[in-house]
Amino acid sequence: MGFDPWNPDFVAYPYRVYDELRREAPVTYFEPTGQWLIARHADVNALLRDRRLGRSYLHVATHEEFGRPAEPEFQEPFWRVIRAGMLDVEPPVHTRLRRLVSRAFTPRMVDSLRPRVRAIAGDLVAAYVDKGGGDLIAEVAEPLPVTVIAEMLGIPDQDRHLLRPWSADICGMYELNPAPEAQHTAVRAASEFAGYLKALAAERRRAPGEDLISALTQIEELTEDELVGTCVLLLNAGHEATVNVTGNGWWSLFRNPGELARLRADRSLLPTAVEELMRWDTPLQMFERWVLEDIEVHGVRIPRGSEVALLFGSANRDQDVFEDPDRLDVGRADNPHISFGAGIHFCLGAPLARIELAESFGALLDRAATLELREEPAWKPGYIIRGLRSLDLTATA
Ligand code: HEM
Repeated sequence: MGFDPWNPDFVAYPYRVYDELRREAPVTYFEPTGQWLIARHADVNALLRDRRLGRSYLHVATHEEFGRPAEPEFQEPFWRVIRAGMLDVEPPVHTRLRRLVSRAFTPRMVDSLRPRVRAIAGDLVAAYVDKGGGDLIAEVAEPLPVTVIAEMLGIPDQDRHLLRPWSADICGMYELNPAPEAQHTAVRAASEFAGYLKALAAERRRAPGEDLISALTQIEELTEDELVGTCVLLLNAGHEATVNVTGNGWWSLFRNPGELARLRADRSLLPTAVEELMRWDTPLQMFERWVLEDIEVHGVRIPRGSEVALLFGSANRDQDVFEDPDRLDVGRADNPHISFGAGIHFCLGAPLARIELAESFGALLDRAATLELREEPAWKPGYIIRGLRSLDLTATA
């Protein structure tokens, strides 16, 4: 088996193929998606910081000039939302949008949320352990980050159940070569989500509260599309990967019982454990970039107009950077993993994600004397956004 992101066996364990790519073909053209795969940590890290690449090319060229087909018209509502958020634009628009929201996500601001995150995690885990366990993803991994980001933005309680399905449907468009059905589902979800947020923003503009949506409505230089795009991005990015790190992370610990025992015995390892779980089984396996000016990587010329696929999962197992990379080591001190990205799009929510993960892993270790796997979990089909369908556990207090 080679690089095959549509093959469930590859999705379940891509790391052997990555080893081969890093050794033998660190820069290789992948015909089925028309992308250059980049496998080594040094290259992924450098290209993320290289301004000759971008998440979009539309600030410097049209689709036609870039030799790309125009997007089908039915996708317009989707791209209107997505391209109004900072993740899919480049400077100077990116700089402006990121500056406007970054104040809410500084480590100090986010640290002030810790008691609330701890309380939510504590309640969810207490209920989970009281009933003897169940699907950890549905009962703890999802509701924790969804509740936290929904509270920050001020999404009313009764509407929060809408967020997960909208986000999952929108993310369907990010997988490689999405099927037409998935594209339509993503467009529908983006339109509904945008409609919902416009109505909510109009209410908050009239009667502002303490929440982030209210604060954003007060910023004059933010257009309505940008406000909606920013909220969609924060709500989706604000939980999607955290859910998967929680699920993948526990599954990693069950596959490495010695490391689980070590963490149970020494809770001071939680911060390094969280970083290591994000490295060892990477939740976002790949990010793409457009090549805006010709580049050369290991003697391979990649011309303007190409697309590179940066293999985060591979970079995170690079033997040139990590000692004994296939070993899960919850105490790993030197851990420059790339799971939060690098460069100008470096994850804005990293400090928040770290708090959420430390609190949820900590709460489970504190409240469940034992946690046992009921059955081997299955992976969802997605490769780029990689996570488990469910994680069934028995928990005893
Ligand atoms: C463990 C959980 C998380 C992981 C692994 C993760 C990962 C990432 C990565 C890799 C990027 C950069 C993508 C690229 O360069 O193409 C990113 C961007 C972003 N993330 Fe996260 N993220 C996580 C949690 C969060 C949370 C909790 C938030 C909360 C708001 C968040 C908000 C964002 C935003 C707004 C961006 C766009 C930043 C920009 O374009 O300047 N993320 N994230």
